[in-house]
Amino acid sequence: MSNFDLLIRNGIVATAADTFQADVAIRDGRVVALGHDLGSADQGIDAAGKLVLPGGIEGHCHIEQISSSRVMTADDFYSGTVSAVFGGTTTVIPFAAQQKGDSLRQTVEDYHACAGAKAVIDYGFHLIISDPSEQVIGQELPALIKDGYTSFKVYMTYDDLRLDDYQMLEVLSAARRDGAMVMVHAENHDMIRWLSEKLLDAGHWLPQYHAISHSRAGEGEAAHRAIALSRLMDQPILVVHVSSEEAMDEIRLAQDKGLKIFAETCPQYLFLKAEDLKREGMDGAMFCCSPPPRDANDQEAMWRGLANGTFTVFSSDHAPYRYDDSGKLAAGPQPTFKQIANGVPGIELRLPLLFSEGVGKGRIDLNRFVALTATNVAKLYGVYPQKGTIAVGSDADIAIWDPDLEQTVEHAMLHDNVGYTPYTGIKLKGWPTTVLSRGRIVVIDNELRAERGSGQFLARAVSEASTPLNRLEPEMDPARNFGAELIGR
Ligand code: URP
Ligand code: ZN
Ligand code: ZN
Repeated sequence: MSNFDLLIRNGIVATAADTFQADVAIRDGRVVALGHDLGSADQGIDAAGKLVLPGGIEGHCHIEQISSSRVMTADDFYSGTVSAVFGGTTTVIPFAAQQKGDSLRQTVEDYHACAGAKAVIDYGFHLIISDPSEQVIGQELPALIKDGYTSFKVYMTYDDLRLDDYQMLEVLSAARRDGAMVMVHAENHDMIRWLSEKLLDAGHWLPQYHAISHSRAGEGEAAHRAIALSRLMDQPILVVHVSSEEAMDEIRLAQDKGLKIFAETCPQYLFLKAEDLKREGMDGAMFCCSPPPRDANDQEAMWRGLANGTFTVFSSDHAPYRYDDSGKLAAGPQPTFKQIANGVPGIELRLPLLFSEGVGKGRIDLNRFVALTATNVAKLYGVYPQKGTIAVGSDADIAIWDPDLEQTVEHAMLHDNVGYTPYTGIKLKGWPTTVLSRGRIVVIDNELRAERGSGQFLARAVSEASTPLNRLEPEMDPARNFGAELIGR
């Protein structure tokens, strides 16, 4: 009888901390030993010349979600998770998005009904809070946090989603009470609204004007304001999908002052530019996302932020809409930039893009790659060390990479349901070739082995990252003021 279910031999293992040669032994879906000459196994994988990395955790993706322009994403929980796993990702945390007036609990149940029968890898849900009513803040949120939905996203823009500063404080206060992480979409709504109206009035309706209407100033201002709100409430936040140097500088400044401000950037801010929105005809629609891609200077700033630790996580913000009348062109063949569903696909290429152009080109090292794409995500969202590392006791969620494999990106090689990729033509070196989820081989030799619905729901713990600093502003300090009443402690 063999000791293990599966043994990965001869590979180079990398975690967020170390890189070392070791065999990885797996039993009952978990890593049970790392070392040499470990014994026999029912099944073996020879990983000589390969890298053995923790499977990626996708902490920001929109799956089977209706956009603010009322368009359904092209990917459901089957195609979305299949696409993710082919790209080396083994856990996804998409959103359960509340519509105004809806119960959050019912929203979560609706998303479970979609995901349960389809997901091929493990998944959790962040909540999107668009209606922070008394019932939601006082009853539903605390119960949902206890049930493992320990993070939520709030928007400072979009007509149907945005919260005002007062509502943001209500959400931050609820997060502080129960230890949840708050993700913030930081863009100044009225700046976008004013610029959009003036552009449209002047007849500028093409996709390229989307980038102009979402200014760097508006992103920087909103990031600054979100940080001020977080500071007042002494509640950590994560600023998601940062695109501009201006917003990044606000975040860095706050971090340098010791505040717990976390930040995320995405492939579109490293590889795409506002120029792409000017492509022929309506083709620029394929690149419309919010915030928009910027320019070479901002791209360089994003790389700097990934290398120096300003960014905690690297996510795709996969928001997949087909370039046809079911998606980007749902409002007609020539929609104004305001009518185009926001978002770009990227769940499958997130890791290959960062590996090739980040690790391969010497901009970040392999351990930072693992941290940004898996370990930090697990820590931020309360699934570490079950997920996000290769260690004894962790789930055997593992991607085996061929660091020398070169392929040029084309949509035909991907597994999403989007019909295009904004990254067409980029030559990437280093791809995942075999992927394991809880010890099951789910991708091998370019073939999917996982059954629909074989992914499991992950109830997440509250994370250390979301605990307050207990560094209260004077106005909130119980010793000097009414702070205890104000922050509810
Ligand atoms: O353009 C984007 N990012 N669309 C998805 C929704 C969001 O704001 O993350
Ligand atoms: Zn957003
Ligand atoms: Zn998003």
